[in-house]
Amino acid sequence: MPAIEIKPNVYWIGVNDRTTDLFEGLWPIEQEGISYNVYLINDEKKALIDLVRGMKTDEFLDQLAQVADLTEIDYVIINHMEPDHTGALCTLRKIAPNFTILGTPKTKDMLQSFYGITENVQAVNNGDSPCFGATSLQFVHTPFLHWPETMMTYDVTHRILFSCDAFGGYGALRGGVFDDEYPDLEFYKREALRYFVNIIAKFTSPVLKAIKKLADVPVDIIAPSHGLIWRKNPGEIINLYRKWAEYATGSAEVGVTLIYGSMYGNTEAMMNAVAHGITREGVPVEIFDAARTHISYILPSLWVNRGVMIGSPTYEGLLFPPVAQVIEMAAIKRIQRRKAAMFGSYGWSGGALRHLKKLIEPIKWELVDSLEFIGHPSEEDLRKGEEFGARFAAAVKEAEKGE
Ligand SMILES: Cc1cc2nc3c(=O)[nH]c(=O)nc-3n(C[C@H](O)[C@H](O)[C@H](O)COP(=O)(O)O)c2cc1C
Ligand SMILES: [Fe+2]
Ligand SMILES: [Fe+2]
Repeated sequence: MPAIEIKPNVYWIGVNDRTTDLFEGLWPIEQEGISYNVYLINDEKKALIDLVRGMKTDEFLDQLAQVADLTEIDYVIINHMEPDHTGALCTLRKIAPNFTILGTPKTKDMLQSFYGITENVQAVNNGDSPCFGATSLQFVHTPFLHWPETMMTYDVTHRILFSCDAFGGYGALRGGVFDDEYPDLEFYKREALRYFVNIIAKFTSPVLKAIKKLADVPVDIIAPSHGLIWRKNPGEIINLYRKWAEYATGSAEVGVTLIYGSMYGNTEAMMNAVAHGITREGVPVEIFDAARTHISYILPSLWVNRGVMIGSPTYEGLLFPPVAQVIEMAAIKRIQRRKAAMFGSYGWSGGALRHLKKLIEPIKWELVDSLEFIGHPSEEDLRKGEEFGARFAAAVKEAEKGE
């Protein structure tokens, strides 16, 4: 894509990555892709804000060459050390050893431990405001968003917030870089939520702290390092992030995430009856086969819904492993305080329910009901299953009234 001038002397010079299958070696993006957005302040002093993954270095240098020469760059501002934004750094230093790297004091330490870089590194304080000509910047430390060294860079002159991972999302750019270039933002909003839950969710309190810190800063443009630049309505992505972060402590939405697994269809047969009962009550339900759906796509549903229905047969005295893995990941991502219920088939002595109780105790999921049966569910079992689903949906709605 061509370099794009966002404001006078401020350019987007990012690259799309459509070949990485798993972001952070874990989260699928083969369908969606991701962008590494780099920004150039092309003033009397020239500064790059964040870089790209190592494998994209050549493409990035071509992008930069459209506007400036690497050897003219005075500063590289590192908002965040994760290699999706710093992978190109060592190569760049070999080509142009003279630019100064700016980052938080922790970034300075990490540059040494990650890349052995100690020369021409300058730590910046929260609030430092360098002037690069007509353009003044300000650094805002935002620790643990989502690493300890993270900061944001604010362009005071043009009111642009270069927020790095915060307010970013999966999804390669489809030809445009701005929110106002897309008539429908659903794809980017959905992928921003998936990214938020996969990458940032554990750090909701730093998200809210950062939003608070920025409350008095006039922001016309949010320019994250992944995904869209929000120019038409920067408040939209800030409000989404705030809303998602608040779900961690406040109440989530009225809805049920139904996660199930089934080896021979017995639990699956019951799943249909339970889902029918939930739907009968008018509560939205999203259904995931845990063995066939990557956790990355289940977590956003768990994050936004206050109800979790778990369907699992007993497997060697425990939950069906793919179902257990989803709950374990939900715990890692601190998806807490959900209303839960469990159903499932077993063959002789069971054990899935016992295992579930152990897993959900630390994350404070309240188990309000359970329905276990032996082998294939009878007609009577299925009738009970539908009622069980409806009762749970009513409890999920009730939780709303109580708050
Ligand atoms: C590999 C395997 C391990 C199992 N382990 C247990 C067990 O430890 N305890 C038990 O009560 N049933 C166990 N079962 C029986 C299943 O829970 C039972 O067949 C159930 O109906 C399967 O439901 P599904 O068709 O939904 O997978 C096991 C079945 C399989 C195939
Ligand atoms: Fe990151
Ligand atoms: Fe990132």
